[in-house]
Amino acid sequence: MARKKITVIGAGNVGATLTQRLAEAELGDVVVLDIPQTEGMPAGKGLDILEAAPVYGYDSKVKGTTDYADTANSDIVVITAGIPRKPGMSRDDLLSTNAGIVKTVTENVAKVSPNAILIVVSNPLDAMVYVALKTSGFPKHRVIGMAGVLDSSRMAAFIAEVTQTSVEDINTMVLGGHGDTMVPVTRYCTVAGVSINEILKKEQVDAIVKRTAEGGAEIVKLLKTGSAFYAPSASVVAMVESILKDKKRILPCAAYLQGEYGINDLYVGVPVKLGERGIEQVIQLNLTVEERIALQKSAEAVKELVEVMRRMKVVN
Ligand code: NAI
Ligand code: 2OP
Repeated sequence: MARKKITVIGAGNVGATLTQRLAEAELGDVVVLDIPQTEGMPAGKGLDILEAAPVYGYDSKVKGTTDYADTANSDIVVITAGIPRKPGMSRDDLLSTNAGIVKTVTENVAKVSPNAILIVVSNPLDAMVYVALKTSGFPKHRVIGMAGVLDSSRMAAFIAEVTQTSVEDINTMVLGGHGDTMVPVTRYCTVAGVSINEILKKEQVDAIVKRTAEGGAEIVKLLKTGSAFYAPSASVVAMVESILKDKKRILPCAAYLQGEYGINDLYVGVPVKLGERGIEQVIQLNLTVEERIALQKSAEAVKELVEVMRRMKVVN
């Protein structure tokens, strides 16, 4: 059986780390692309990862390039192109620069890989994946945003630290937009099946929720020169694996909603079933009135960004 082809657009922190992780997991052959101005950078990183293969024992082929022809007929394309945050910036501050980048990238990708599944990482996430959907003309099940897996993983890491339990026994569910209004649904966040609301004091739960919502900013503040990339790249791998192995995992991802959760014509983080066709189902959780209101508020914040992009004529 021929190996699957995965393209990573953007050979920066997230893109290069993702390329390494995908190769090590042997999920397919990987092409990593950056802009021509970066000259040999993507080729150098690709070759370096390829040269690690004999030590690690993976047979994935890895190639770095600045030419879209090398990415043709990819099964999955992950878009990490764009600028990251610096301290004091919100994800929304990246809007105008990254919207233009994601639009151009998507046009190029759609031409050479018309059947690919797109996973968008660039920020502000929920707005950028909307740009990719509208620009590509791909069906909604083939255009997905990565954020919920990352936010849920952060939350699980914090719960493991507080409860002193294994991350393997923790399940978390963070919904909504990938911003300050994200919605960690604590009723569905469990340690060995028991909600953290039953295990922890309210102050502890509130502190975990706050730290999760501020998780990206916490890393930006520490790094100073950019944003997180180890946990983000790991999160993309979980999505790629579920799709390419048709595992049908239920993962929180940014999905294009048309009425689900009372939200229309927007990308918002919700649990979805990920399989070989991409998003195979949007899972409708029963939410309390409070949780539903929080999700609506988060969707409103995403809608504001989409409206800014309409005024900028990035999308219709
Ligand atoms: P980075 O600056 O290290 O890498 C970005 C790369 O994109 C650079 O190498 C740059 O040359 C390249 N690039 C710029 N324009 C391009 C174009 N038109 N075509 C191809 N490549 C292009 O940034 P990093 O840390 O890798 O982050 C990338 C993006 O992902 C940022 O927007 C960041 O905010 C976002 N992000 C989103 C996360 C999420 O949860 N959705 C998590 C982490 C990062
Ligand atoms: C994060 O949450 C930068 O959005 C990215 O780390």
